[in-house]
Amino acid sequence: MGDRIITVLASGRGSDLQSILDAIGSGLLRGVEVGLVLSDVPDAYALERARKADVPAVGVPPVPKAEGGRAEHEARIEQAVLEHDAGDLLVLAGYMRVLSPRFARSWHGRVINIHPSLLPAFPGRDGPGDALEYGVSLAGCTTHFIDEGVDSGPVILQGAVPVLPDDDRASLHGRILLMEHQILPRTVDLWAQDRLQVEGRRVRVLPGDSWLNKVELIPEALYPHGF
Ligand code: GRF
Repeated sequence: MGDRIITVLASGRGSDLQSILDAIGSGLLRGVEVGLVLSDVPDAYALERARKADVPAVGVPPVPKAEGGRAEHEARIEQAVLEHDAGDLLVLAGYMRVLSPRFARSWHGRVINIHPSLLPAFPGRDGPGDALEYGVSLAGCTTHFIDEGVDSGPVILQGAVPVLPDDDRASLHGRILLMEHQILPRTVDLWAQDRLQVEGRRVRVLPGDSWLNKVELIPEALYPHGF
């Protein structure tokens, strides 16, 4: 079987995208090609990273209401994905826009998001900041299929990292990002191996290989079943 072609959507610097490109480059993640990187921010560094990796990179800025608004924006996204034949899976990797319920329904089971908190705690724009403010002692990140809500679809993998006494938002987010860069490519890998079985809200990871002895583990972190 040929590689499956995915689209990565990113709004910012794209370190999550880079983790997928690196895992493909090192041979850890096989059977997957990033066929397109899309950003709602035309000068996002994520697009630059894509170009450096010889991956088509397209900016699709939001569309003003008078010209069709979100529906038109999403139609342009879908058109770009189809033009590049890169719609086996969409990966939201630091994509800061909420997709419409219509989009979520029509791509059901084919969109994965990564969020920098242990969902369902701290959904929304600032998971690390909200976790710090709340005073939790464990933080982390979650990959999940999207549904019609915000950060609410079935959880795939979660990784937990400690919150340290001197943490500020940046240091905590930095530690969470290390975990994101491991569980995001692993999630795509499990998907590519057809090992994600969705049963209602629960995602069962079917038996197979493990990355626990393939990557450098983060000290004091807790890895999920299936990693
Ligand atoms: C990540 O923490 C991701 O979970 C989020 O935004 C951040 C993106 O980082 N929602 P980057 O642009 O991939 O470096």
